[in-house]
Amino acid sequence: MTVSPNMRSVAATDRSIEAACEYLAAGELVGVPTETVYGLAANALDESAVRKIFAAKGRPDNNPLIVHLPDVAAMRQVVRWPLDPVVMDQFEAIADLWPGPLTIVLPRSERLPDAVTAGQATVAVRIPSHPVMQQLLRRSGLPLAAPSANRSKYVSPTTAQHVVDGLGDRVSMVLDGGACTIGLESTIVALGEQPRLLRPGAITAETLATRWNVPVESLLPVDQRPVVLEAPGMMLQHYSPRTPLLFADPSASVPAGRMGRIAFAPLSPEESKTFAIVRVLSDTGDLNRVGQHLFAAMRELDAMGLDAIITDTCAAEGVGRAIMDRLKRAACRE
Ligand code: TXA
Ligand code: MG
Repeated sequence: MTVSPNMRSVAATDRSIEAACEYLAAGELVGVPTETVYGLAANALDESAVRKIFAAKGRPDNNPLIVHLPDVAAMRQVVRWPLDPVVMDQFEAIADLWPGPLTIVLPRSERLPDAVTAGQATVAVRIPSHPVMQQLLRRSGLPLAAPSANRSKYVSPTTAQHVVDGLGDRVSMVLDGGACTIGLESTIVALGEQPRLLRPGAITAETLATRWNVPVESLLPVDQRPVVLEAPGMMLQHYSPRTPLLFADPSASVPAGRMGRIAFAPLSPEESKTFAIVRVLSDTGDLNRVGQHLFAAMRELDAMGLDAIITDTCAAEGVGRAIMDRLKRAACRE
């Protein structure tokens, strides 16, 4: 397998996963499937490999990376162990949500290069469930630092082709593990005196609040802004298509021009006719399906040279909290 600007992704097989392990062990970058979004992976213990991630994405080096592990036992490689008792209790109440779309911020081990954590005292860790990523983690034996495999500020990738489109000339290989089943980046929580939600995702704030027996509101930023300080990657403009994104307003008429439409459920034929293209994300308005297909629809419509994309919205609760978070970031122009 060679590095080429015209590269294609490679179907994940025993052989291609073995090749990916070799690239990772040699300090190179590999595009990898996870159940949330595709990641841009490097050996988290290799400082120069980690620096390549920042260069490839055009990512500011003050924005720390998530470290992916195969199981809880592997956490000792990157987390300061043992956890203090308060944090351990919080951790044990949610540990069964792994493997899955959940990232937990914990005190870091000194072994980890500063580049991964952007010099912070904490490290974000995740145990993904995707079988290809699981195999890669187990076979390589490496903790893998991996941000979403998009250029900084663009929409996260949910297929191998999305990774090739954005970063094909920057990676040694892209492993194709199929389209992501969740489609939204993982939920991020920070444990400590009080657990906090740093990024909403498919593991909902409501689920976490039940586990910790606290009100949902106690997990959320007081003025909606501390997240910006806490997780530097979460600045407001993020995940944006180049085409302006507007929220559908049923009481207003559709603006003039070539408009694209992202619908969470089927539109009436009359309404559909007013758009150059309509992408329906779910037959029934199921928000898990909406989350699964949202980024692919944004990317597809963004490539069509439309004047604007108009999208449905939903209540910011359950997985809808993550969907509205991503839509607000994508719609933000400043
Ligand atoms: O679903 C996901 O989480 C995907 C897949 C590939 O695992 N990864 C992902 O990574 O979305 P990225 O880098 O695009 O987003 C990670 C977020 C950033 O906003 C970063 O600021 C935050 O996690 N983060 C990382 N380490 C942190 C830490 N120690 N404390 C607070 N936030 C942290
Ligand atoms: Mg990202």
